Amino acid sequence: MTTTPVTGDDILRGPGFDPAMLRFQFPILAQKIHGDKRLAYLDNAATTQKPQPVICALCEYYEFCNSNVHRALHELAERATEQYDESRRKVARFIGAGQEESVVFTRGTTESINLVAYAWGRKFIEEGDVILLTEMEHHSNIIPWQILAREKGAKLVYVPVLDDGSLDIEAFHRSLSSKVKLFAVTHMSNVLGTINPVKELADAARAAGARVLVDGAQSAPHMPIDVQDLGVDFFAFSGHKMCAPTGIGALYARRELLEDMDPFMGGGEMINRVSLDDATWAEVPHKFEAGTPNISGAVGLGVAVDFLANLGMDKILEHDRRLTAYTIEKLSAIEGIKIFGKAPERGGAISFEVAGIHPHDLSQLVDREGVAIRAGHMCAQPLMKRLGVGAVSRASVYLYNVEEDVDQLVYAIGKAKDFFKV
Ligand code: ALA
Repeated sequence: MTTTPVTGDDILRGPGFDPAMLRFQFPILAQKIHGDKRLAYLDNAATTQKPQPVICALCEYYEFCNSNVHRALHELAERATEQYDESRRKVARFIGAGQEESVVFTRGTTESINLVAYAWGRKFIEEGDVILLTEMEHHSNIIPWQILAREKGAKLVYVPVLDDGSLDIEAFHRSLSSKVKLFAVTHMSNVLGTINPVKELADAARAAGARVLVDGAQSAPHMPIDVQDLGVDFFAFSGHKMCAPTGIGALYARRELLEDMDPFMGGGEMINRVSLDDATWAEVPHKFEAGTPNISGAVGLGVAVDFLANLGMDKILEHDRRLTAYTIEKLSAIEGIKIFGKAPERGGAISFEVAGIHPHDLSQLVDREGVAIRAGHMCAQPLMKRLGVGAVSRASVYLYNVEEDVDQLVYAIGKAKDFFKV
């Protein structure tokens, strides 16, 4: 198949933000599944598909630029270094970081949060301190803090989730005290879709003396982000959930915090001078990027954030809202369905169960109709317990999804119900 690469700029010059047209930018979506079934990809909260400009950028990088960065002085090394550094500037602009030194490239959200737990937490968390989390966190925003708390003798406290899937804001305010050293919260729940009022929460937590970390894995791909306006200390996100390759993501941190923190991993790139007994560290952010980084991934992330920014994050959010409302309306009309998460501010991760069908079975049956959804505990077992279920099914939308994808899901659920006679 030959495709002409079209950039986000071209799309803007064309018919504007049009998901049906955008679909053609994602070659994987053109294929048929299980013979002749149209692919309805609704597993975007797990990972998104990649547009042609990102795919082309990876090819171009390896065809013309591949080299190591910040080391050699030959032409290829200069090209690779220039592209890698330029991507950091693009990412910094995309999230409103103010300065590129505040952006550390990581493998993704999980590594970003672990970096903070290790490099900031081990230095600043002490016995008796409280780490405040919420009941709706993904395991990646629970486990690093459990490990740290166990090691340091700190205490974990969880802000509860209300029945509609929103955070118990009153309980959050009651939990704040001078003992709380860190508040770590998801911006958008990967299960409930709830969008938390991060700016308001960060203001209150910081006023009480806590540092604030936001898990932006589900928000950065779907809405405009300005980390300085949100007033957070740390913001973690993944490239692969926003059109970039897997294995690349970033941690935003206030520069003075990065400077105060100890390194995360030791090795090449992160040092200034090394003797047999001692070493000094490179300037931030390089102090946190030991070893050869994921250069092509970073280049792909730079192209992905340009693609999204050119489309307009406000337009992507508006499209998400419209399609989420449509999906909830159509799913709600199915007999025996229960949707989890009815918070007024919500994004397009829609979890549900269908009476009489296990989520794993449902996922496999709708797959036969060409529909990709996720099933399981969603890496959020404490939240599953709160919801009183072991697993759920989840459909999650993105910029290339259209109503036809949702209609195909509804049709496929109907076929699954026929199969199970429920
Ligand atoms: N965190 C990703 C999800 O929710 C993998 O599916």
